[in-house]
Amino acid sequence: MLCSWKSMVLLALASIAIQYTAIRTFSSKPLNILCSVGLIPTGQTVNCSLKELTPDQAERGSNETLANTRPSPNLSLPSKGDAHERTHILILATTRSGSSFVGQLFNQHPEVFYLFEPLYHVQSVLLPRLAQSRNLAERRLMMGAARDLLRSLYHCHLGSLESYIRPHPANHSTDKLFRRGASRSLCSPPVCEVPLGPEDQGLVLTDEGECVKKCGPLNVTLAADACRTMRHTAIKTVRIPQVSDLKALIEDPKLNLKVVQLVRDPRGILASRIETFRDTYRLWRLWRATGRRPHNLDLGQINTVCDDFLKSVSTGLSKPAWLRGRYMLLRYEDVARFPLQKTRELYNFLGLDLDQSVKDWIINNTRGSSDQSSRHKFTTVRDSAANAENWRVKLSLDMVTYTQNACQPLLQLLGYRTVFHSRELRNFSRSLVEDRMFLPFL
Ligand SMILES: *[C@@H]1O[C@H](CO)[C@@H](O)[C@H](O)[C@H]1NC(C)=O
Ligand SMILES: *[C@@H]1O[C@H](CO)[C@@H](O)[C@H](O)[C@H]1NC(C)=O
Ligand SMILES: *[C@@H]1O[C@H](CO)[C@@H](O)[C@H](O)[C@H]1NC(C)=O
Ligand SMILES: *[C@@H]1O[C@H](CO)[C@@H](O)[C@H](O)[C@H]1NC(C)=O
Ligand SMILES: *[C@@H]1O[C@H](CO)[C@@H](O)[C@H](O)[C@H]1NC(C)=O
Ligand SMILES: *[C@@H]1O[C@H](CO)[C@@H](O)[C@H](O)[C@H]1NC(C)=O
Ligand SMILES: *[C@@H]1O[C@H](CO)[C@@H](O)[C@H](O)[C@H]1NC(C)=O
Repeated sequence: MLCSWKSMVLLALASIAIQYTAIRTFSSKPLNILCSVGLIPTGQTVNCSLKELTPDQAERGSNETLANTRPSPNLSLPSKGDAHERTHILILATTRSGSSFVGQLFNQHPEVFYLFEPLYHVQSVLLPRLAQSRNLAERRLMMGAARDLLRSLYHCHLGSLESYIRPHPANHSTDKLFRRGASRSLCSPPVCEVPLGPEDQGLVLTDEGECVKKCGPLNVTLAADACRTMRHTAIKTVRIPQVSDLKALIEDPKLNLKVVQLVRDPRGILASRIETFRDTYRLWRLWRATGRRPHNLDLGQINTVCDDFLKSVSTGLSKPAWLRGRYMLLRYEDVARFPLQKTRELYNFLGLDLDQSVKDWIINNTRGSSDQSSRHKFTTVRDSAANAENWRVKLSLDMVTYTQNACQPLLQLLGYRTVFHSRELRNFSRSLVEDRMFLPFL
């Protein structure tokens, strides 16, 4: 007991130090950011009221902040509609729910700066080996740090991320950024200038490994510059349990944050995790192989998924005022079945133009493509998009029934049908995904 009490104090101290570093990076610049976190430097009088600003300025803070977060005039792209409105997007997901696929719907857009799981670094510093922590104090600590970092990242203060990278980057340069290659902006000019080779013409490197190999260490300063030249920022994370954990960010008028909650049938998540996380889900594989449920099976993981989904989706669908125009629920199965249509709905909700390159990517990487020889860079993505209901042949009826019992209210809320016989389970002529429209709350 004493031991864990001590480690909590250490954890808290570490977090304060890190948050301090993050805040300090702001302090030379806009004071209104300090207003927003309730920290005013002593000896200074700052009027935090927004009343003096025009509505337009109030939306995004003073033009001082703007100068810091927006493209310089020469770099700004031709604008349409809400020209100056910078939209920040968060994909709220869980592992094996199709979030890499949905992330690509933004990563492929030339005006979106996309980051893949930056919170990985926060988790590995604050909660090493406690990924599944249900401890409330630990969770609060992690969420506080996560929110601070997200806020910094949306303002293109990528330097804040450096505090969490191990070993600590020297000279704002690191080769330890988690899955850097998953982010197109970090693998293309000006962040990465690859010498022209015979076959690649210095274009975007679509292969993750290739990016890391050819680009060398990431220059964080250049990455932050690139972020500022882009119209929008999108961040994907599986490390925020529920939308309510983001309330402070969603309510921040300077952020214009919109959340896309991605959900998937928990039976599909389970089947996919059993294939992917072979150690953690070892006993589930044993169950499948022997037909008998191991008595020490850890049900915590699937209960956590269903519990977080249920609470978060219930919050979203209950339409609290703070989520108006800021929350959209997306079922992975719908994206897999109707990728173009769902992507259009997604972009409509966000108020962004759906770029041709996103459409091209979808056509190349889903069933829509008949050309098997076309680039298979995202083979797993392609397979999962085509096989959203594949779990029906991968789980035994016992496992399915068990999961259904644990997740009953969620299945009902999201429109996933339950089955009780093998012939229902394996009969693909009847989809287990009910047709449902989850309209965004506008
Ligand atoms: C801050 O600005 C508001 C709006 O202009 C004004 O009403 C208020 O008196 C100011 N407060 C201070 C402390 O200057
Ligand atoms: C901020 O905006 C005001 C009014 O729009 C303008 O007069 C001022 O020059 C701007 N300041 C900067 C630093 O751009
Ligand atoms: C921006 O463009 C203006 C005129 O088109 C030019 O004078 C200025 O040097 C440019 N600034 C930068 C930073 O390229
Ligand atoms: C950082 O940059 C300085 C000056 O360019 C150089 O002397 C130093 O060796 C660099 N540090 C590392 C770890 O690369
Ligand atoms: C990163 O890029 C900046 C801006 O171009 C440059 O000044 C700096 O030297 C670069 N850092 C490293 C470590 O190459
Ligand atoms: C789609 O596939 C074609 C043909 O292989 C390729 O030329 C194109 O670059 C691909 N586009 C995207 C966005 O992946
Ligand atoms: C599969 O489901 C369809 C539609 O519900 C039904 O008509 C058919 O008889 C079922 N097939 C089997 C083998 O149960």
